[in-house]
Amino acid sequence: MPCTVIVGMQFGDEGKGKIIDFLAKDADIVARFQGGANAGHTVVVDSKTFKLHQIPSGIISGKEVMLGNGMVIDPKALIEEINFLKQSGIDVDKISISEAAHVVTDAHKELDSKDTKIGTTRKGIGPSYTDKVARRGLRIIDVVDDYPEIKKYVTDVSSKINQAIDEGKNILLEGAQGTLLDVDHGTYPFVTSSNTVAGNACIGLGIGPTKINKVIGVVKAYTTRVGEGPFPTELKDEIGERIRQKGNEFGTTTGRPRRCGWLDLVMLKYAKTINGIDEIMITKLDVLSGLDEIKVCVAYEIDKNRIEHFPLGAKKLAMVKPVYQTFEGWENVEGKSLPKEARDYVYFISKELKSPVKLVSIGPDREDTIILLQNG
Ligand code: IMP
Repeated sequence: MPCTVIVGMQFGDEGKGKIIDFLAKDADIVARFQGGANAGHTVVVDSKTFKLHQIPSGIISGKEVMLGNGMVIDPKALIEEINFLKQSGIDVDKISISEAAHVVTDAHKELDSKDTKIGTTRKGIGPSYTDKVARRGLRIIDVVDDYPEIKKYVTDVSSKINQAIDEGKNILLEGAQGTLLDVDHGTYPFVTSSNTVAGNACIGLGIGPTKINKVIGVVKAYTTRVGEGPFPTELKDEIGERIRQKGNEFGTTTGRPRRCGWLDLVMLKYAKTINGIDEIMITKLDVLSGLDEIKVCVAYEIDKNRIEHFPLGAKKLAMVKPVYQTFEGWENVEGKSLPKEARDYVYFISKELKSPVKLVSIGPDREDTIILLQNG
């Protein structure tokens, strides 16, 4: 594993929390490099649900976790999260918080709550990053004395993680949100205010690019989006509603219903390139069970012209029409092998993306819901 980045290849909510929890058993450290309390990672262990916003989900497996300089941290919410974990019997001693991470203040949240255009999570993310770039932000090191509950965790994360790399430790670098929400490479302006792509793992933790060994992309078996912005394969019909209910597609952070639609391979091919994805893990395949047929977007059409590349800019993306290929549905995905139709679906994704699919998740619980594909 040594240094593996995990990113979402869609609009966030791909199920990264569960995948990271699964991979964390072989890791020594799980570190986050961007975003803040806008993220919501859900991990279910023995039917107990953990919803984490700022602390990497590796904490639940007792791993060392790090919050990198690229994050914007809400100290009050972080203290609440630590207390919640303590009450649940989780060991919280192995948390490191970067001195150089920026702070989300009440004023940032107040400003963000006035957003009407993007549909933000209202966690103060954009305003905090704005102050960072304008060179007037507050960093954790500036406020650490005001928050004695987290003071003991605050340290030089970059030097700590580089030392761990030199010692050959296994490290997972956990991305939040998804590729299409990246401030440079996403559907700007309907994006978050950080770089969500794999390259930012280096910046957001202070690691050199030569230290990254692998990039894993997490793909939900269909597409969802929260907030505003173009979504070519969105289903505004009863199938979309069915996916929303069955997949419990309501925001972890805000509770908002997520917009649901078919898988979009044009988008995924773009995400593969931008992140340099080595392998793929597919989540929530079970949610598609019971549908007569399943569609996958294989190209777009603009003004009756077929295009296979992902167009830059929200305006152009809003104009495209998806071109679909239809697959036979399947009844159920239970146990340790997939029905033929579900396998066909997974292999098609793998073939189209020219990437091995290493893992398919078919339910929320930790252990008995993961299928490792032998020849993926
Ligand atoms: P912000 O990150 O709160 O500024 O929100 C900007 C956009 O990103 C909005 O469309 C949010 O719904 C979306 N967003 C932010 N965080 C997440 C996430 O963790 N999952 C899915 N969407 C997110």
